Amino acid sequence: MNTVNRNSIGNVNPDVTFLDSAITGLTAPQKNMSPKFLYDPEGSALFERICELEEYYVTRTEAQILQNNVKEIASSLGAPSILIEYGSGNSSKTEIVLANLRPWPVYVPIDVSQDALHAALRRLTRSFNGLDVLPVCADYTSPFDLPEPALRKSNLHSSRTGHAGRAAMILGSTIGNFEPDQLINFLSQCRRTLLGGKLLLGVDLPKDREILESAYNDREGVTAQFNLNLLARMNKELDAHFQINRFFHKAIYNEEKSRIEMHLVSREDQIVNIGSTIIRFTRGESIHTESSYKYSIEKFYKLAALAGFRSVQTWTDSRQLFSLHLLKATSSEHLR
Ligand code: SAH
Ligand code: AVI
Repeated sequence: MNTVNRNSIGNVNPDVTFLDSAITGLTAPQKNMSPKFLYDPEGSALFERICELEEYYVTRTEAQILQNNVKEIASSLGAPSILIEYGSGNSSKTEIVLANLRPWPVYVPIDVSQDALHAALRRLTRSFNGLDVLPVCADYTSPFDLPEPALRKSNLHSSRTGHAGRAAMILGSTIGNFEPDQLINFLSQCRRTLLGGKLLLGVDLPKDREILESAYNDREGVTAQFNLNLLARMNKELDAHFQINRFFHKAIYNEEKSRIEMHLVSREDQIVNIGSTIIRFTRGESIHTESSYKYSIEKFYKLAALAGFRSVQTWTDSRQLFSLHLLKATSSEHLR
């Protein structure tokens, strides 16, 4: 049955922890917030603008790699019955893959941003008449269930063919936002969900500081707005009292750790109330809001192996800016 499940976006694991996370993160010695909180409706819209920026090579390079190799990618993915996408955002690059898969799998986009899921659903419905889309609005770092109809379809396929027929994608270097040890746990969890299926993964490569730092400090200041919007979100949702112009955006390449770090830096000594909690900032003190790890191909193979994946194929662009990995989940019992 080919139906688009228009009303199926529900919070599977509703986020009741924004306040707790903010208080815990902002009272730590290095103040920090999880990057997942950057994606409220304004944040998701700003991220869309980032993807269009000249300096932000990530989106267009990954799209180009997908376009250039899509036949091979599609044939290697085979004919999965369900295609899960973690951190799907606007699903625009997904269209490149879907257009080359026959028959279409049930598509299960997972994202914390309800706005992004709605926009993706609207677009996919128009582009792929009859595609089954079962969106899940959830934090993929916490347990969540796949939608029942997707499971039914996958089980049916499995009983006919002996294969689970599941595939997954994580594009846009979203995995770069995990700390490496958390990434191994997360990928292990994906492997268990995949039941032996394949994972298509976009990974940003280490490169010159200049290219990296300008990608996260764009001339128009869109990335700065994206980062500072977190303060506006806390004001709206948590009874916080940040004066936004008392902070500035900073993104630096930490070469030793091979990661871009985004920070919100306090321009002065100040006190900010979040409800009844008082948060103190000294001048120059920052909130670390995002890390974006860059992995060489070899380093990533090692990490994927620790999570129980083996590499099937890797593609890059001519400038070696970005990599796209196709991995196969192994079924080793000893893995975590
Ligand atoms: N894959 C898209 C979007 C990348 S941006 C692309 O390549 O362009 C990262 C996406 O992951 C955002 O849409 C954000 O809302 C989502 N996201 C971030 N952390 C998440 C989490 N913990 N759980 C679910 N979605 C998350
Ligand atoms: C989604 N994530 C992989 C992006 C990145 O490049 O780390 C988010 C982003 N932050 C600033 N610009 C883009």
